[in-house]
Amino acid sequence: MFELKDRDGLARIGILRTAHGDIETPTLLPVINPNQITVSPAEMREKVGMQAMITNSYIIRKSDNLRDIALEKGLHHLVGFDGPIMTDSGTFQAHVYGKIELKPLEIIEFQKTIGSDIGTVLDLFSEPDDGYEKVQNDLTETITRTKMSAENKGNMMLAGPIQGGRFPELREHAAREMSKLDCDVFPVGGVVPMMERQMYSTLVNATLSAKKFLDPSKPVHLFGAGHPMLFALATLMGCDMFDSSAYAKFAREGRMMFSDGTRFLAEMRELPCHCQVCSTHTADELRNSPSKDKLLALHNLHVSFSELRSIKQAIHEGRLWELAETRCRSHPTLLDGLRCMANHTEFLERHEPLSRTLAYLYTSRESYHRPTVTRLRKRILERYEPPNSSAEILLPDATKPYSRTFAEPIANALKISDAHFWADALFCPVPLELDEMYPISQSVVPEFPGQDIIGEKEKVLAQFRDAGKFPSPLRIWNGIETLEGLPPRSGSLPDMNLMRVKAVADIQFGKGAGNALLDGKVKLVLSSNTDRIRNVQVNGNHVLSMRAGDGFFSLKPAGGRMLLKAFPSPKLRVIVNADSAEFNRLGRNVFCGFIVDADPGIIPRDEVIIVNESDELCAIGQAMMTREEMLAFRRGIAVKVRDGVGND
Ligand code: GUN
Ligand code: ZN
Repeated sequence: MFELKDRDGLARIGILRTAHGDIETPTLLPVINPNQITVSPAEMREKVGMQAMITNSYIIRKSDNLRDIALEKGLHHLVGFDGPIMTDSGTFQAHVYGKIELKPLEIIEFQKTIGSDIGTVLDLFSEPDDGYEKVQNDLTETITRTKMSAENKGNMMLAGPIQGGRFPELREHAAREMSKLDCDVFPVGGVVPMMERQMYSTLVNATLSAKKFLDPSKPVHLFGAGHPMLFALATLMGCDMFDSSAYAKFAREGRMMFSDGTRFLAEMRELPCHCQVCSTHTADELRNSPSKDKLLALHNLHVSFSELRSIKQAIHEGRLWELAETRCRSHPTLLDGLRCMANHTEFLERHEPLSRTLAYLYTSRESYHRPTVTRLRKRILERYEPPNSSAEILLPDATKPYSRTFAEPIANALKISDAHFWADALFCPVPLELDEMYPISQSVVPEFPGQDIIGEKEKVLAQFRDAGKFPSPLRIWNGIETLEGLPPRSGSLPDMNLMRVKAVADIQFGKGAGNALLDGKVKLVLSSNTDRIRNVQVNGNHVLSMRAGDGFFSLKPAGGRMLLKAFPSPKLRVIVNADSAEFNRLGRNVFCGFIVDADPGIIPRDEVIIVNESDELCAIGQAMMTREEMLAFRRGIAVKVRDGVGND
């Protein structure tokens, strides 16, 4: 059973429960070869925080000695570890050394008998160079074997590898078919050669193609991924588990892993690492140590687990994109992988939170294509309704919020004309009504973004123009003379606060939400300190609160009622069964397992309306998951309820 604890887009912190204890993901399962133990599992647990390990059931079965111990005393006794143990099936050995004399069900039976916590199907390994037909045939066989294995897995958890070679459509097919089977973990397989050959764009396409169609409630393992420089990117794609023998193999070759690459110990003048090994040895001492291999292995493990902790902290802070962009700049092939993420924008956007606590930091050219800003552009294009104007004025990028920075010239301009204002933000032109909304005010961008981004900006501007976002000609602000030749103001001064409420509501809840929510006698309550909008009241009811942090609204029950009336089901709704509804009305959270259906447009941190199957309002809250996740997970919080609503 897997439970989601925290997330940042597709990246997640989860708990996988096994018969020998819980695993907090993302994590690395170091490969332990029972024939050649460099660092014992007990030492790994104690020194580097390893939680779970993986070993190869084929190697154990092949050796008379190991097999006898495993059969008699169990796998955990054999390797001297009482925590969770995953076993691989011998697929890789079969692939490298030719046919092995194993039957798929025999190896499942063996893994079960020796007490593996997570056994693996004997899948067929596809190489990235294999042709379509071969990969397709092998995949069909892997699916058949997984079906048989799942029917015979007993109490053992089962890992069902996703093959499909370099073909995205076969990866998708594999993910769809495998998700129908009773597996507990989905490893992405056949990727070791991609990593060895640094084909990271192929890896990203293969992994994300699979991820799109995999049951989201199951952890995804990236088979053979063991270099810490890849972990941030892999986690960003939604991978939860890694395994590798690289820590030991690299150590034997005298190589040290770092989060930005690999270095030979022979070439180290300094040891720029804080681990137990590096902080107690000089490079020379390490080179001359009789236990060099073990010390290097410990260093490699330390760096790997330390990177995983950095990643978990980044997920918690909502800063994983920044971390991955930094890591991927350490090698051009990784940069290719990162850039490939932009081929999957729509999928990424569906999991991208509405907002984050910390500001968006523009750290690289690739930041321009992060899902937070691609969605911002898309939502402005699709949802923003520009007011009537005689001129659209583009203000320069400046200190945010723009409406404060330019308060005086705007007030003067509005006295004499029907101008409407945009800011020339780095991501896209921003209507000033939206300027306090995440990530516009909550972003830090370079003053000198570079020529290539200027080209991108021009493309976006043209897109906005083509979409009719500028109902009157666009003028670049150049002082009050910019307004020359415009007709004088035609009516009363526009209420900028009211325009902001409408525009933000449309962006947040969908086109038409602003008008629906403002239908009645409107009163805006402003903060006495900052003069910013705090609450929106309509006909005496509190319908919305504007959050100071991200500039979005918290929905109040009265607002929820208005949106229910304005939009047909399932828009903005999480539909719960009767058992849940009763509790949610009391203000308790919505848990997975009680959800009948939900709006497929819901993104993490969206304000949602909890209704029963008769579409009656039960509560208001903040979604933690997408619809697919709400329906797939069996445990965990789906919606954090803010206000329960009693029976009408
Ligand atoms: N180890 C590395 N890659 C693979 C794979 O594709 N399948 C299995 N079973 N083990 C692996
Ligand atoms: Zn070190």
